[in-house]
Amino acid sequence: MDASQPVITASAAKLHLSPTLQINEHVHRVRASGKKVVHLGFGEATFPIQVAVLKAHRDASNSTSYMPVAGILELRERIAAYQSGRLGIPVHADQVIVAPGSKPLLFALFDFLDGDVLLPRPSWVSYEPQVANAGKRLFWIETDKHDRHTLTEAALDRAYSSAVDAGARPRIMLINSPSNPTGQVFSKEQISLIVEFCRKHYIILISDEIYSDICFDADDVKVSAFGSAYGNDGTVIMTGGLSKTYSAGGWRIGYAIFPSSSVGKSIRQTTLAYASECWSAASAPAQMASIKAFSSIHTTAEPIGLAMDEYREAVTCLHRMCTMRLYHALKNCGLAVAEPKGSFYLYPSFHPYESQLKSIGVATSSELSTWLIEECGLAALPGSAFGEKDECEHSGGGNLRLRMATSSLYFSSEEERYSMGYALLKSAVAGEEVPLPLLDEAIAAIQAAVKMLKAV
Ligand SMILES: Cc1ncc(COP(=O)(O)O)c(C=O)c1O
Repeated sequence: MDASQPVITASAAKLHLSPTLQINEHVHRVRASGKKVVHLGFGEATFPIQVAVLKAHRDASNSTSYMPVAGILELRERIAAYQSGRLGIPVHADQVIVAPGSKPLLFALFDFLDGDVLLPRPSWVSYEPQVANAGKRLFWIETDKHDRHTLTEAALDRAYSSAVDAGARPRIMLINSPSNPTGQVFSKEQISLIVEFCRKHYIILISDEIYSDICFDADDVKVSAFGSAYGNDGTVIMTGGLSKTYSAGGWRIGYAIFPSSSVGKSIRQTTLAYASECWSAASAPAQMASIKAFSSIHTTAEPIGLAMDEYREAVTCLHRMCTMRLYHALKNCGLAVAEPKGSFYLYPSFHPYESQLKSIGVATSSELSTWLIEECGLAALPGSAFGEKDECEHSGGGNLRLRMATSSLYFSSEEERYSMGYALLKSAVAGEEVPLPLLDEAIAAIQAAVKMLKAV
């Protein structure tokens, strides 16, 4: 082999270790040096798995055959019925594909759908590399300076025109509500605006609804691009999964629901062909367990633990309680932060302390993230991981934004997760005040960081 020849393709050479994994390694290094670090960098849901779901997984552990490429029919029926109940529209099992997580489904869609991509800035860390890997061009849609989430018609038009002017063909767009990283939720009006924009320009819209159960206002649960576009031109694809509401990211269960239109049917067929050559099928025991997880909205109480509906409600209550407490603490520290509406993220900006940060050599979100880990024992992901520009902006403070995840603030060990977890969920759903010592530590670390900045 000629040593001067590249061994990696140009598009794959752009891939880097995910920022989430990078920050984990950084935290481990700092901890190994004897320092304490509060980890707000990792968005993994950590509640105990609902009891019947856990048992179903154990009972199915001897199920070792390959499952159908699209997923077990009963699971697809449950997912269809669950989403049908949530959105008030008919959804059928033959519109659903189950996969080992929603990430491979998103990867596949970006890979084989035709055209270039529009994405709101900021967006979840993996979309941009997935688009780059597919050899497609990405054009950012700028969001509101304050919440970094709201999209206006003008911003959509600007992104579309700049893509067309650059010789690109914007045919794909992705939105994520409730959002990682902002914790914000689109209103009905916003969703209509986006769906209409996509329809006008023949754009396929991917609606990542993986956090859709975790809405702090119950009315927001029903707000969905997939739901609102149903029965019209049918070019919205929804993705979701078991990783967030059900705390089972490691089981690797995700799904996509395709519109029943002819376009939807053809995209689903191609996804099936892609899946059959790539991952074959999702894990059999995890699919069996998911049949329980996506059980209908009105389940009877389980003898132990919480019934599925109650479990979903308790999960949302606890995320709301913890995330809102951190929100108030951030505000009280003088940071710029929008009130969270769902998921388990906050997206504060340190721009009110811009001059103090500058005087200690911190001008970008990555430098801010490094300073907080090393000097203040607090880990949070930099805005740059979500597509924020790292040059100084002054306006929205994009260069000094951090994404803080509250999902790891409940238990200090796996043992605690199961010994205390169900009681914690039950207290939250009963409206009781829940002590969260790890959250208190996180707040103390943020207060200490801000105190240091004020003293500069
Ligand atoms: C916005 C968003 N979409 C998709 C995923 C992928 O989830 P999974 O592949 O576990 O279904 C995540 C996980 O962090 C996420 O935050």
